[in-house]
Amino acid sequence: MTVRVPAKVNLQLAVGPLRDDGYHDLVNVFHAVSLFDEVTAAPADALSVTVEGGSIEGVPVNADNLAARAALLLAERLGVAPNVALTIRKTIPVAGGMAGGSADAAAALVACARLWGAGDADADLWEPAAILGSDVPFALLGGTALGTGRGEVLTPVQTAGRFHWVFALADGGLSTPAVYAECDRLREAEGWRPAPPQASQDLMAALAAGDAHALGAALGNDLQPAALSLRPALRDTLAAGREHGALGALVSGSGPTCAFLAESADHAGELTAALSKAGVARSAVQAYGPVPGATIV
Ligand code: C5P
Repeated sequence: MTVRVPAKVNLQLAVGPLRDDGYHDLVNVFHAVSLFDEVTAAPADALSVTVEGGSIEGVPVNADNLAARAALLLAERLGVAPNVALTIRKTIPVAGGMAGGSADAAAALVACARLWGAGDADADLWEPAAILGSDVPFALLGGTALGTGRGEVLTPVQTAGRFHWVFALADGGLSTPAVYAECDRLREAEGWRPAPPQASQDLMAALAAGDAHALGAALGNDLQPAALSLRPALRDTLAAGREHGALGALVSGSGPTCAFLAESADHAGELTAALSKAGVARSAVQAYGPVPGATIV
C-alpha cells in the first residue's frame, strides 16, 4: 500500500500568545504544493522504518519517526498488532518548515488504515492525526485550508487556478520548537504582547480570485523574524528571490526553506535557475499548488 503526500507552505502564519499548554494559537493558511513524499506500508513480522532519498540526515529509522508513531497509534486504536514495514521515500526537505515529517505521518495513517482493513471511514483518521502533530491533519486534507487552534482545526479555503512556487532549500534544518521559542523571546524583548491572530482578508480575496500579484503582497509569516534571527543568511536568500522578480518571498513555516511566488510556470523556472546560480541555497526546486492531500497511488 503506497500513499503519496504533499509538502505545505504557510501563506499566512499569524502566531498568537504562548498558551499554558506550550502551544500558540494560530491563524495558519496551509497550501499543499507538488513536492511529494511516498510512504509504503507492507505486512511484516514487526514494525520497521526504512528511509530513502537524497538528503535524509537526521530522519529517525526507529519508533521515534512520526510515521512509526502514526502506525503504533492506529494499531492501538484498531486493536491490531503494529506489524508493518514502512518505507519512506523523501523529497520534502527534512526539518525544512514544509511539514515533511507530518506528511509522512499522515501518509502512514492512510496506508496502514487500508492495509489493516479499517475501511474508508476517513473521518476516523482526523483524531489520531491531530494527536500526532499540529500539521498532520492538513497533510490528510491537502488543497488550501485555514487552520485555527494550534493549527489542527481546518476549514477548506476556496482558490482559483494554480500558483507557481520556487523553494530554496537550505543546508541543515531548524527545530520548530526552537523557532517558536525564539519568536517568544524576540516578542518579550520588545515588550510586545500579540493580539489574537486574525485571517487576512486580502489573502483570502487573492486566493479566491487566483490573483498571484495580490497573493504575493498578502503573504505573511510571524515566525520569519525568529527564523532569520537563528539563521541570518536567509536574508540573502529572500533578497535574491525578490531581485529576480518574485511576487512574494517568505520563510516557509519555521524555516529554513524559503518560498517564492512566481508569475507563471516559466517565471518559476527562471527563478529556480537564478537562485541556484546565486549560491544562496543548497538547491532550488519548482512546484505548484494547490494539490490534493495524502492519496493512495
Ligand atoms: O504539534 P507539533 O508537535 O508539530 O508542534 C511542534 C512544536 O511546535 C511544539 O512542541 C511547539 O513548541 C511548537 N508549536 C507551537 N504552537 C503551535 C504549533 C506548534 O508552539 N500552534
